[in-house]
Amino acid sequence: MIERGVLPSHLGMAATILETRFEEIFAAYEARLLAMESPLVAEVETRKQLRVQARSILKDVAATLRGPEALSSIQQSEDQLSETIGVSRARGNVHASESLRAVVALSAAALSVVIDNLPPSSTSRSAVATVALALQESIMDRVMRAGIAYSSYLLKKVHESHADERRRISRELHDRVAHSIMVAFRSLELYELYSDKDPSKAQARLKLAKSTIQEALDLTRSLSRELRSASAEEGLEVALAELLSISVPQKVRSWVSVRGDEAHIAPQVVRDELFLTLREGVRNAVTHSGAKTIKVEVDITENRVKAAVEDDGRGFEPGEEAGGTGLTSMKERTALLGGNLSLVSVPGEGTRVEIFLPLPRSQR
Ligand SMILES: Nc1ncnc2c1ncn2[C@@H]1O[C@H](COP(=O)(O)OP(=O)(O)OP(=O)(O)O)[C@@H](O)[C@H]1O
Ligand SMILES: [Mg+2]
Repeated sequence: MIERGVLPSHLGMAATILETRFEEIFAAYEARLLAMESPLVAEVETRKQLRVQARSILKDVAATLRGPEALSSIQQSEDQLSETIGVSRARGNVHASESLRAVVALSAAALSVVIDNLPPSSTSRSAVATVALALQESIMDRVMRAGIAYSSYLLKKVHESHADERRRISRELHDRVAHSIMVAFRSLELYELYSDKDPSKAQARLKLAKSTIQEALDLTRSLSRELRSASAEEGLEVALAELLSISVPQKVRSWVSVRGDEAHIAPQVVRDELFLTLREGVRNAVTHSGAKTIKVEVDITENRVKAAVEDDGRGFEPGEEAGGTGLTSMKERTALLGGNLSLVSVPGEGTRVEIFLPLPRSQR
């Protein structure tokens, strides 16, 4: 990797600059990230990671510049570091494109410090080119490994959220439909038992059997409608309106407003995942809030979607809610799409869940 014609002493000097002027490089790196409003500098945890990662990349590059022996001694710990970073970025809601933007900034910061500190000569110019190449190689290698870890983590989450959905359907079938059928069955048995001795009791049992069978039938119908509408194939607005009509009781006022062009939210999978996230918000409002009104708002522009589910119900203290899986899967679904979710709930006043999704170039 060391270029012929570059004096080893200049490469050695560049390696020393990368190691000894780390603080200077890191400050320039952070300044660049701040200027481009990178979310990676906003959090203490990701900021710490940036430092560890920058140090490790520069060590790697310095070792490359010094030759193969220096390099092999540091390789192993680096593999693990990239994977850890890939996973925690995914968990911490940072879109992969932010990591890419950040490493480009690191590369620029490191190069400018090397250029400022190498003595001006023609050989140091080619030493700078060698440093640039080594930086690029080290960074691409890490990006690739972090990327693999990032996507396997996200795939696992998609798989889990589909499994959750299956569990929910099986729970509904078991708790609601099977229960009603059991009650009806038992009532028919009692009807047989009483039909000779006590006809009026028998009639009451028959009536109960009929009404619970009707209930089971309604539940099965609504479950099957819900299953059919588990995606937003005919568009988000249609799917949301259908959802409110199926799941919100008549006495609760509800409405949906979708502004902007849904065509910006391609591919379909993004629309479906957003729909499923909003659906859980509506379900929570119906199940837990006791609200008089529930509204769903979606606002789409070319490069982002903002969506919210709001109710004026009993609210809760965020962080102290009972541990279901719904809110967690809403957060995970949003993270999968590179967005974020914020929840504002005030006991006695209601709850508003807001979702922000960037629409990267590839999705437009
Ligand atoms: N809109 C809301 N109004 C009042 N309380 C809410 C609301 N949304 C969520 N909560 C509270 O937060 C808790 C957690 O919600 P989450 O969706 O994670 O679980 P769940 O609805 O209880 O169960 P699951 O969604 O797994 O069927 C709820 O049990 C409830 O106490
Ligand atoms: Mg829930």
